[in-house]
Amino acid sequence: MAKIKSYYVCSECGYKSSKWIGKCSQCGSWGSFEEETELPVSVAKTTLNNSATQSKVFSFDEVDVEESERYKTTIGEFDRVLGGGLLKGEVVLITGNPGIGKSTLLLQVAKEYTEYGDVYYISGEESPSQVKNRGNRLKINSKNLYLMSETDIMKIYEYLVGKKAKVVIIDSIQTLYNSQVDSIPGTPTQIRECTLKIVELAKKYEISFFIVGHITKDGKVAGPKLLEHMVDAVFNFEGEEGLFYRILRSTKNRFGSTNELAVFSMEEDGMKEIKNSSEYFLSEREEKNVGSMVVPVLEGTKVFLLEIQTLLTDVTIGIPKRVVQGYDRNRIQLLTAIAEKKMHISLAMKDIFVNIPGGISIADPAADLGVLISLLSIYKGVEISQKIAAIGELGLRGELRKVFFIDKRLRELEKLGFKGVYIPEANRKEIEKNNYNLKLIYLKNLEELLERMS
Ligand code: TYD
Ligand code: MG
Repeated sequence: MAKIKSYYVCSECGYKSSKWIGKCSQCGSWGSFEEETELPVSVAKTTLNNSATQSKVFSFDEVDVEESERYKTTIGEFDRVLGGGLLKGEVVLITGNPGIGKSTLLLQVAKEYTEYGDVYYISGEESPSQVKNRGNRLKINSKNLYLMSETDIMKIYEYLVGKKAKVVIIDSIQTLYNSQVDSIPGTPTQIRECTLKIVELAKKYEISFFIVGHITKDGKVAGPKLLEHMVDAVFNFEGEEGLFYRILRSTKNRFGSTNELAVFSMEEDGMKEIKNSSEYFLSEREEKNVGSMVVPVLEGTKVFLLEIQTLLTDVTIGIPKRVVQGYDRNRIQLLTAIAEKKMHISLAMKDIFVNIPGGISIADPAADLGVLISLLSIYKGVEISQKIAAIGELGLRGELRKVFFIDKRLRELEKLGFKGVYIPEANRKEIEKNNYNLKLIYLKNLEELLERMS
């Protein structure tokens, strides 16, 4: 019998090693190595055979374009993120932290898709009765919705081939395994093999799939990055602990646009779409405010709109306080120094409080300008319209530096109903030709800001 070879792969960068090592010598990540096994020839062959039997070549002219039907739900925002509905044979990966509401939302849409035929909810995480329990809470009742508790992908494969399933939900990919592969569920090899089978089912039998994928603490899909390449669309479910709103965002979509986002709120009886997210985000805010500014901040590849709030009080005793929540304290010290020098305001006898509501932290220097505007506003008691945002990193000379991903940030503001935005002059060239539904106010430095705000 042929010996099964195993090796270790860095789940961050894909670096291979014959031995397990603690720190990746390619990308420097710690503890990222996972064992992978080379597939026994028989398994590799079956995979090969399946895909090789029907390879046909078409001339470009010959190919007919099929107008595929899109399955729609009554949750319009969800359909929008999908690009106008779910396509036949589409495979969608949904990721997010535990408890964020992936299972809840998918059970809700599962029920909706029963309009088109049989829907299977395959859960390796919860028993059918637990799923049903959740369903009762969501007031779901449908004959065409089937619950299945199975984790062997080959059994799922055989079962689904015999049935006329329209949509299948796999909760989660980390619980599935392929018995022909010699490693435990959740390892990169298993995740890859199971996803391959799912994609095969989807494409051959035109069954649409939603796959739940857990993410690690640092926001990556647990398992190989490869998973994201194998599926048609990747949606992230985001939200902060303690906040009841959730953002569903597409980071990849072969059949729709990426970076589409939808806002949901987690209610007693499931996820409710928030159609007008801009109103939602600004609901607790006045039309005009003193000491508050919205900044579009990039977190990884994602843009968040966050509010920066500042407050100044007179120092009563001792050293002036700098109380900062959700922002780097050193950065605030630096910005207050710039504010004193370049905006001619005196903060030495003031306690400064900076807060980012929602328990989110800003690490992006593009939020600098927002901090200074909100500081200036509270210092001078000038009201600022809350439909205006600010983008810009500051240099020590008070100059505004070019910001990366400016287009992405502007699109997000546009999407959320903002009217205008302060941006660095240095970004002008790059975006001059684009059309935005926003008033762009270019600034070279803080002097120009002072002229505008006085
Ligand atoms: P869940 O969908 O299980 O999250 P995930 O699958 O992403 O791990 O959501 C779990 C949380 O949602 C849990 O804290 C309870 C809450 N919840 C509601 O607030 N309302 C509901 O109707 C349901 C079903 C759950
Ligand atoms: Mg779940």
